[in-house]
Amino acid sequence: MAELEEVLPALAEEMAARTDRGEVADYIPQLRKIDPDRFGIAVALNDGRVITAGDADEAFSIQSISKMFTLTLALGKVGDALWRRVGREPSGNPFNSIVQLEHELGIPRNPFINAGAIVVTDVLLAGHQPREALGEILRFIQFLADDDGIAIDREVAASERATGYRNFALANYMRAFGNLQHEPELALGVYFHHCAIAMSCRQLALSAQFLAHEGRNPATGHSVVSAERARRILALMLTCGHYDGSGDFAFRVGIPGKSGVGGGIIGIVPGVASIAVWSPGLNENGNSRLGSIALEKLTKAMNWSVF
Ligand code: DON
Repeated sequence: MAELEEVLPALAEEMAARTDRGEVADYIPQLRKIDPDRFGIAVALNDGRVITAGDADEAFSIQSISKMFTLTLALGKVGDALWRRVGREPSGNPFNSIVQLEHELGIPRNPFINAGAIVVTDVLLAGHQPREALGEILRFIQFLADDDGIAIDREVAASERATGYRNFALANYMRAFGNLQHEPELALGVYFHHCAIAMSCRQLALSAQFLAHEGRNPATGHSVVSAERARRILALMLTCGHYDGSGDFAFRVGIPGKSGVGGGIIGIVPGVASIAVWSPGLNENGNSRLGSIALEKLTKAMNWSVF
């Protein structure tokens, strides 16, 4: 098998030379400012090694990758009762689509599309003020990464709030069906801020390592979730983590993953490693274009597909 220490720098060099980088997300004004030439990758192996290349220590907006953390927290809080309010099927539609909600009575298809993640955030708000719920999410991520330097980029959150008409539409619509227990303003306040958490590839890879290691963080020894719950979160990542591009990601890359419009992707090789990659330009499904290509090349070189 190829040596990761050689594969990663070569991959970063190859990606740096490519010009087909996709388009940086522009519907969140603050994200328009990001340099599309950035590329970073970090692999946290279960044996304790962390190998990085490119801009692996530069923080970027994790956006929808935060939905993997909020799902984990919400399952910890309400367990399987969560599935009364959100489904577990791929939507086959864009991440911000509203169309299925009308016929499906305000129950989003899965916890990773925007509508589903807003419901998950609403669950985390129960019994809390918005700032407490947000603090809980941030502290959970800091605990997972064992790094209390991770912070929220409030300018990104404010920029999304100012232009978040689609998310307000989704939240209002679900509230009308009785599937949002708080005012849309409150649930979305927390949602926009958790999407605006900034992390580097290194921090992300470390924070998701519990999913590669049967629910336990191999670096800190902390038990985060049961092995069964880790498997179930991975199943949802494989089937729904890339929205209407989930089938293609599974076909090409062959591992569970979760993307964000900041250009980050987290991929999990069960039993082996967690991988974070970042390249801000997106493909037509709103997933990192070069990030997906780099992961495809990496899983192929390392024989890491789960299939
Ligand atoms: O709600 C939104 O549109 C963004 N805060 C997050 C969307 C996102 O990251 C989709 N991922 N590829």
